[in-house]
Amino acid sequence: MNTSPEPRPGCPVAGGSPAASATWDRFLDHDNRYDPYPLYARLRDTAPVQRLDDGAFLITGYDEILQVVHDPHISSDPLAGRDDVADAGPGLTAAFVMQDPPVHDRLRRQTMRHFGPPHHAGYIDSLRADITRTATALIDAFPASGTVDLVEAFAYPLPVMMICDVLGVPHEDEPRFHAWSMAIIAPPEATTPEEAEALQGEASAATRELGAYLAHLAEVRRGTPQGDLLSGLVNDDGAEGPMSASEMISTTIMLLIGGHETTVNMIANGALTLLRHPEELDRLRTDPSTMPRVFEELLRLEPPAQVTPKYIALEDVLVGDVTITRGSPVWVAWAAANRDPRHFADPDRFDPLRENRDHLGFGAGIHACFGAPLARLETQIALAELFSRLVDVRLVEDPPPYRRNPLLRGPSRLDISFGRVLPAATVS
Ligand code: HEM
Repeated sequence: MNTSPEPRPGCPVAGGSPAASATWDRFLDHDNRYDPYPLYARLRDTAPVQRLDDGAFLITGYDEILQVVHDPHISSDPLAGRDDVADAGPGLTAAFVMQDPPVHDRLRRQTMRHFGPPHHAGYIDSLRADITRTATALIDAFPASGTVDLVEAFAYPLPVMMICDVLGVPHEDEPRFHAWSMAIIAPPEATTPEEAEALQGEASAATRELGAYLAHLAEVRRGTPQGDLLSGLVNDDGAEGPMSASEMISTTIMLLIGGHETTVNMIANGALTLLRHPEELDRLRTDPSTMPRVFEELLRLEPPAQVTPKYIALEDVLVGDVTITRGSPVWVAWAAANRDPRHFADPDRFDPLRENRDHLGFGAGIHACFGAPLARLETQIALAELFSRLVDVRLVEDPPPYRRNPLLRGPSRLDISFGRVLPAATVS
């Protein structure tokens, strides 16, 4: 997934809107991370498709995003339509999130064979007991009362352990791939072009090292499958054959990073939103069967994947009354669409009972989230375990500090206090 918040280099482009660019700059400013929604509203209310000074088109309207991500002339391949670039970077095939059909579809199918229906039907649901056990153990490690940083103690370790288990990555290697993952998706802010170049070099090196690490794990499993996704990919005997080694590595890097960075933010954003709405939290505690609706509303209102900056127009494409010109980058703001008043009534309101739940929190079109069933299960179990066991739980700081990345948004820490932890055995 391209999660770089850096605008593309270059001079301001004729026709770019200075007002939209200024609002976008404020969006990128970390000081506004705690509440980007008024900025989205300003952009969307002015025009749901706007051109920024660097030439990218920013889409903030719900219908406009759906049109763009379903248009075959809007590509996800950064090299499509370019004959001046030979390959995708540090020696790896681009992951399928950065590919167009037919390669995207083949790689996604080959991966899904080991993750979900029809070949692996029931697999995600079979993880329920493990996820619950892991969540329970993490809460058991909280102090008997007092405060914890929910990100560090719970929201981060749970999805990391689960995606490790899915892939076949040992838990004890977490510090190694966490460092690589941070260099790739959340580098520190560069203050000079030289620094930006150095950080880009570090990200490429981290990608290579993470790739080599996963290639080694896959080789160990060749001929001796261990029931995990890496084993499935390396020993695949399906009709389309196994992926190439390079495809397998870029796929597993994407799953390892995409599989936890987003869900960490989802659990933290979800807990924060529920604690801000005690009446809805009480309703959920009284009737836990409402959790699936609560989850969808949390994902609509506070989506971790705020903006995806990867699409490129292969031809001129008319969206509303704006022509997205050939060769332009297209940035889709899922989080702005999720609060588009033309689509959702009273969009800033947290309302788990709303009937309209067709949010774009998991994206849309052919690149809609591959891991959504796992993310749904993990987050729902996490929030259910947390709020059924912690008594008298409150936010210590609101708003909490936020991570730097504006595109994958979530708190960097979330301190909560609680009076007591109920034993897991008393949870029905
Ligand atoms: C709440 C947690 C999650 C959120 C909010 C989320 C969000 C998204 C979004 C918005 C996209 C579309 C990106 C685009 O259009 O380029 C996407 C794609 C993707 N996600 Fe997730 N994701 C989550 C969890 C996961 C998990 C757990 C996994 C892996 C197990 C995963 C793997 C992927 C992959 C592989 C794609 C690319 C799909 C394709 O190109 O066909 N995601 N996700």
